[in-house]
Amino acid sequence: MRLSGKTALVTGSSSGIGRAIALRFAREGADVVINGRDERKIGSVVNEADTIGRKVLGIRANVGNMSECRAMIERAEAELGRLDILVCNAGVFHHTPFLKMSEEEWDEVMTIDLKGIFNCIRAAIGPMVDRGWGRIIAVTATSGVVAPPQMAHIAAAKTGAHGLIKSIAAEFASSGVTANVIAPGLVDTPILGNFSEQALQDFARRVPIGRIGRPEEIAEAALYFASEESAYVTGQVLNMSGGAVIANG
Ligand SMILES: NC(=O)c1ccc[n+]([C@@H]2O[C@H](COP(=O)([O-])OP(=O)(O)OC[C@H]3O[C@@H](n4cnc5c(N)ncnc54)[C@H](OP(=O)(O)O)[C@@H]3O)[C@@H](O)[C@H]2O)c1
Repeated sequence: MRLSGKTALVTGSSSGIGRAIALRFAREGADVVINGRDERKIGSVVNEADTIGRKVLGIRANVGNMSECRAMIERAEAELGRLDILVCNAGVFHHTPFLKMSEEEWDEVMTIDLKGIFNCIRAAIGPMVDRGWGRIIAVTATSGVVAPPQMAHIAAAKTGAHGLIKSIAAEFASSGVTANVIAPGLVDTPILGNFSEQALQDFARRVPIGRIGRPEEIAEAALYFASEESAYVTGQVLNMSGGAVIANG
């Protein structure tokens, strides 16, 4: 098993991509922390992960709040022994014309999708550096690469996250801590709830591979970046869009 003896915290793992990553890590031998803001959703994924046989902890915390992040990571380290792998995946989605974009919506996206990554890394990286081993992975979006219309806040936050991760990668490369990004295109999760079936089909037709992605496919890339096999890879952005970035970007 590729993560045997490791511990991992996946933010936003009470749903969608984060859930798939946490379950994949547990199946590879990692003890995992399931996080989100909704206790009921966290509990349901904790129950699922429990059947795999690894230690599983559910922690409710808002990644946009530094003290909640610190408390979550301290608890994870106390109950799992240490934290080896941090996946910053929690995020929200809004598709809003710029002339209708409110300051509140802008701040919400920045706080969760960008500052949330800073908060979690800031709270978790010190002991990784002290131990000389750590894996940091951010789940962003291809909107941080190609910047589609009506997503100015998401594009700004995800592009910012790419800069943040690259700088962390450079600063801690010699300490055995890698930091990489997975930038998905559309993936079949509850975050797409506001899209009509027609809009999703139209989008899928523009994807060279001919469909939107599956959370389990993103989890395979996260497993690589979390594993020993990726030790010589840091500061990279992996686009996972079925070819949409090269064809439409
Ligand atoms: N699905 C896509 O098409 C797609 C495409 C590109 C990028 N992404 C990115 O992939 C990541 C995961 O999205 P998803 O598609 O899996 O969506 P999802 O199914 O809606 O899951 C989002 C997760 O983030 C959590 N979350 C949201 N705000 C949080 C906060 N402030 N603190 C802690 N947890 C929070 C949610 O829990 P609560 O509901 O309990 O808060 C949930 O567990 C996001 O960063 C998203 O931008 C998704």
